[in-house]
Amino acid sequence: MLPSEVADQIAAGEVVERPASVVKELLENALDAGATTVDIDLEEGGRRLVRVSDDGSGMDRDDAQLAIERHATSKIRTAADLVGVRSFGFRGEALSAICSVSRFSVTTATADGAGTHVQASGGAVEDITETARRRGTTVSVADLFYNTPARARFLRGNRSEWRATSDVLTSIALARRDVRLRVTSDGKEVMSLAPARSLRDRVAVLWGTDTVRRFLDVDAVTGPIRVSGVAERPSDVGTASRRTALIVNGRAVRDIGLTRAVETAYRTVLASGLRPSFALEILLPGDAVDVNVHPAKAEVRFHDRWGVERAVERAVRRTLGALDSSALVATGARIWHAPSAGDAFPEPLTSVPFAVDEPIFADGRETGIEEIRPPLDDAIAVPPLLQLRRTYLLYEHAEGVVLIDQHSAHERVLYERFMHQMSAGGADSQRLLLPETVHLSPRDAESLESNREAFARLGFELEPFGGYSVIVHSVPAPHRRFDALRCLRESLAALSGDRGATTHAGHELLVATVACKAAVKAGEPLAPDEMQALFRALVSTTLPAHDVHGRSGIIRLTWDELERRFGRR
Ligand SMILES: Nc1ncnc2c1ncn2[C@@H]1O[C@H](COP(=O)(O)OP(=O)(O)OP(=O)(O)O)[C@@H](O)[C@H]1O
Ligand SMILES: [Mg+2]
Repeated sequence: MLPSEVADQIAAGEVVERPASVVKELLENALDAGATTVDIDLEEGGRRLVRVSDDGSGMDRDDAQLAIERHATSKIRTAADLVGVRSFGFRGEALSAICSVSRFSVTTATADGAGTHVQASGGAVEDITETARRRGTTVSVADLFYNTPARARFLRGNRSEWRATSDVLTSIALARRDVRLRVTSDGKEVMSLAPARSLRDRVAVLWGTDTVRRFLDVDAVTGPIRVSGVAERPSDVGTASRRTALIVNGRAVRDIGLTRAVETAYRTVLASGLRPSFALEILLPGDAVDVNVHPAKAEVRFHDRWGVERAVERAVRRTLGALDSSALVATGARIWHAPSAGDAFPEPLTSVPFAVDEPIFADGRETGIEEIRPPLDDAIAVPPLLQLRRTYLLYEHAEGVVLIDQHSAHERVLYERFMHQMSAGGADSQRLLLPETVHLSPRDAESLESNREAFARLGFELEPFGGYSVIVHSVPAPHRRFDALRCLRESLAALSGDRGATTHAGHELLVATVACKAAVKAGEPLAPDEMQALFRALVSTTLPAHDVHGRSGIIRLTWDELERRFGRR
């Protein structure tokens, strides 16, 4: 049998790793006690002292004494209370663990005036006295790990311990922007935060105003889930070091799935390898999430993880889409088209009503294509378009001139259209009068084999014909210049070595490849009606200003800029 103090010290290792974890536990207790102002003082990076004072509920004498015993908590009474716990802690372990490995004291009062002071060392209570204090609680943790030298040896230098603490403080401060926080380190004030009105305001204080200027606002509600906050403008991604914060119901969390959902929203607007900064807050009903599955409470479990991830992706994509549309269309300009039968390019997607929660594929994933498009009942004026170098389309609008890369634009249009067809299954394909036989290389035959189903959804009806040959019965007909067999060959070559489109990301890659091969190329002359149709179709996409590889497909030159260049101002 281990003596109980030793057992406590071992258990403490799960909760208390370094000063940062002490700060986290004490600050969370203060917030649970309803504090609106918390003062934190650190000495020597917290190794010598962590002191947290709050103006919360305080404790009476009996509770103050109990609080440092193992499994003493005021936050739940029965196992049934575990459902929907909203507090930051309920295990009743933190104070006893911290107390068992430090010289510890609590001064607390439930009302201004008479309070209690409890002094303990290594988990043993040494002294309880009465003392005067304002309502609230101060917990002091001195000489962390003084009695467990093996642990003390794992602590790093003051600077590095402070950095860890500062990360903890930053993420809690982002999550609880209603709270006033003051932090000193070795007597110097290092953080002073007034309550902030919005997440953007807190981000500005914590990450810097320069950083926040690079961020776009996100705010969208999907069913019971609200996602709001800020996310980096695509053109700024990669220009400064990356920062991320995720908050779920007022709690800072780390979550790979949600982070990936944000990145997915950016997928076609960023060059590969670039990852965006963001600070996002997710609000959802308390019973849709379990935040108490992790000993340090940094991870969450969702009842419908997939739904939450899609809500996050959708919210961010919406912001990026709105940005793109405004890059294309002068503010206030109404854009819409009169449908005409002879268009060489596909009709704009506006004519296809999208349901966001329309399931794609058998497993019910959505396309991610949003309904951010111009209203149907307004008339668009397509501006006069000029083709330059058989590569770019040029036009003017109220704020300046715009250049569109015809290939990028068409690629984006086809990409969104094909993604929709993948989900709806309704590719309009054309039966060949005389089926064509195509001979493939072994590698291309293999890449066809692993992508057959996806090609079928895009309108390619293909039949294997011994060896490496395939008979083509039907092909998609996205526009009149489309060379289906060439597109098939080029797509297969580009996809070879790919594992096959079994995932959503895999489908996106395949569709992006086919769209790229199917789009008009630079150097092709376009007739006026083709340019107009392309323009209308582009305006109706979700991310018109980016090609599917994340490069810019549109360049704007504002009148302001022109005037500056000409020295007119
Ligand atoms: N700053 C404080 N103000 C008021 N009461 C507090 C404060 N800190 C701790 N307490 C009381 O002491 C109890 C024990 O705190 P402790 O942190 O050990 O456990 P917990 O917060 O209940 O759960 P966890 O171990 O998961 O943090 C709390 O349940 C609370 O009742
Ligand atoms: Mg606690």
